[in-house]
Amino acid sequence: MINDEIRIITSDFRQEDRKIEKNLRPLKLDEYIGQTKTKKMLNIFIEAAKKREEQLDHILLYGPPGLGKTTLSNIIANEMNVNIKITSGPAIEKSGDLAAILNSLEENDILFIDEIHRLNRNIEEILYPAMEDFALDVIIGKGPSAKSIRIDLPKFTLIGATTKAGMLTSPLRDRFGFILKLDLYTNEELKNIVKRSCSILDTNITENAAVQIAKRSRGTPRIANRILKRVRDYAQVLHEGHIDDTISLDAFKILDIDEYGLDNLDKVIINAIYDKFDGGPVGLDALCASIGEDKNSIEDVYEPYLLQKGFIKRTKRGRMLTKKAYDYFEYNQKEE
Ligand SMILES: Nc1ncnc2c1ncn2[C@@H]1O[C@H](COP(=O)(O)OP(=O)(O)OP(=O)(O)O)[C@@H](O)[C@H]1O
Ligand SMILES: [Mg+2]
Repeated sequence: MINDEIRIITSDFRQEDRKIEKNLRPLKLDEYIGQTKTKKMLNIFIEAAKKREEQLDHILLYGPPGLGKTTLSNIIANEMNVNIKITSGPAIEKSGDLAAILNSLEENDILFIDEIHRLNRNIEEILYPAMEDFALDVIIGKGPSAKSIRIDLPKFTLIGATTKAGMLTSPLRDRFGFILKLDLYTNEELKNIVKRSCSILDTNITENAAVQIAKRSRGTPRIANRILKRVRDYAQVLHEGHIDDTISLDAFKILDIDEYGLDNLDKVIINAIYDKFDGGPVGLDALCASIGEDKNSIEDVYEPYLLQKGFIKRTKRGRMLTKKAYDYFEYNQKEE
């Protein structure tokens, strides 16, 4: 098992970070960096809905954690000038909870359900008529005298967020008008996010130091902001808060952040493929079992990044290490 302190990707981070994260959230679509295609589409949907003076169609956002799904949902509410109510799949325990939330919505409101793939199936079924017909079916009474009555709901927009679009049932998925995928960010985009955050935090940073942080951020704005904060602490103590190239490189060394932002679990994964499976190919199940890790986080968070950076490749027979992995980790090349 991996020490949680070193894991910078997990969601259980400190309260202080949470506060900073909130301050750094862009509020308008044009402050939201990257995700160009998604932004373009959203702009059109929003303009069209506004012109028709109608609520926006339901939207499903999916992609790895920390890419800006919650941020984007808040932006959509701002741009549409409507209220947003926020809840999450695991927080809704009974169908009555969801019925009460739906019943409290006002015309054109946005209901944001985070981790929507974790909604209990019985509860999910309440969403079907709510999304399709803006109605709530309520059963009154018990036994043979039970009656179903339909309550009208105001026209609202559901925004669902998930890291696993594949785990959504098809009746639910089919009821979304727009399904938008968020991709890992490029280094250039992350650099701009770092620079934007620095200006909000009133911190000086050189162009190159921003590039260096971007490179270590695993394609993820949340990680970029978190590394920035750590480096800023370091610079504040030793350099009057000014982040330049030397101070950032020193900070990465002290914080044990390598040049690709690989964390311990990445290294465990790569090492297991090398050591236990001769460099691969190995199936995901066998790999996860061999390191005692949950398949979900490996599949959703770790593998996409290792693939993007070219440390592993996917073949028909499983995952394999690339030459880049052999070189970077100085492994002995095994036979092909
Ligand atoms: N496109 C962006 N431009 C600038 N900052 C961003 C962008 N996307 C995300 N961020 C920053 O990254 C942080 C994390 O974003 P957010 O909480 O929206 O991610 P998420 O996808 O909802 O993550 P999770 O799946 O863990 O809920 C935010 O505080 C925000 O400051
Ligand atoms: Mg979120």
